[in-house]
Amino acid sequence: MIPRLVIATKNQGKVAEMRDLLQAAGIAAEVVEGLEWDDVEETGETLEENALLKARAVCEATGLPALADDTGLEVEALGGRPGVRTGRFAGPDATYDENVDHLLSLLGDRSDRTARFRTALALVFPDGTEVTAEGVVEGEITFERRGTGGFGYDPVFAVDGVTLAEMGMEAKNRISHRARAVAALAEVLGAG
Ligand code: IMP
Repeated sequence: MIPRLVIATKNQGKVAEMRDLLQAAGIAAEVVEGLEWDDVEETGETLEENALLKARAVCEATGLPALADDTGLEVEALGGRPGVRTGRFAGPDATYDENVDHLLSLLGDRSDRTARFRTALALVFPDGTEVTAEGVVEGEITFERRGTGGFGYDPVFAVDGVTLAEMGMEAKNRISHRARAVAALAEVLGAG
C-alpha cells in the first residue's frame, strides 16, 4: 500500500523502533535510509502541528512519503505541561536527566501524579495527501527513578506500578504511546 517511505528523524534508534512498530501494525512499507534533509524547526503549538511540519518538509526534500512523530508528556497537576515542550522542559539543550530532575522537583511530594504520554503521527505523501493519527498511554509519575531501560522520562513514568524503564522494550512497545499511534495509523490506512 505504501511501497517506500522515509522516517522523518535523524535518530537511528527511532528509525529502528518505528520500523518494528510499522511491521507489527501490518503496514507493509520499505523504510528508505541514508537520505538527507535540512533540520526542521519544531515551531508548532501542538504535537500534531509539529509532526506535520516535519513530515511535509521531509516529503518535499526527498520526494518520498514521509512519516514523522512528535511526543509529549502531559502531567495533570501541571496543567498538561510539559506537552509540546517535553524535550526542552528544563531548557533548550536540556539532557534527559535534567528534564526528569525538573519534573520531579516541580511535583515535589504532591500525591496527584497522573500523567500521559501522547504521540502524534503524520504521514505526508508527495501528492499532498496528509494522514494523522494519535496514541496515548496513561500512567503516573513516580517519586524517584526506577529501572535502567528505555530513555527520556521512562524511569519515572509508571503504568500499573511498573516504570517504562523497568518493563523492557518488548513490553513497552506493546503498550506505548508510539505503538498505539502506529496502530491507529494502520487503521486509518486500512492495513493490518
Ligand atoms: P520526540 O517528539 O519523540 O522527540 O520526543 C520529545 C521528548 O519526549 C523526548 O526528548 C523525550 O524526553 C520524551 N519522550 C518521547 N518519547 C518517550 C518515551 O517513549 N519515553 C520517555 N520519554 C519520551
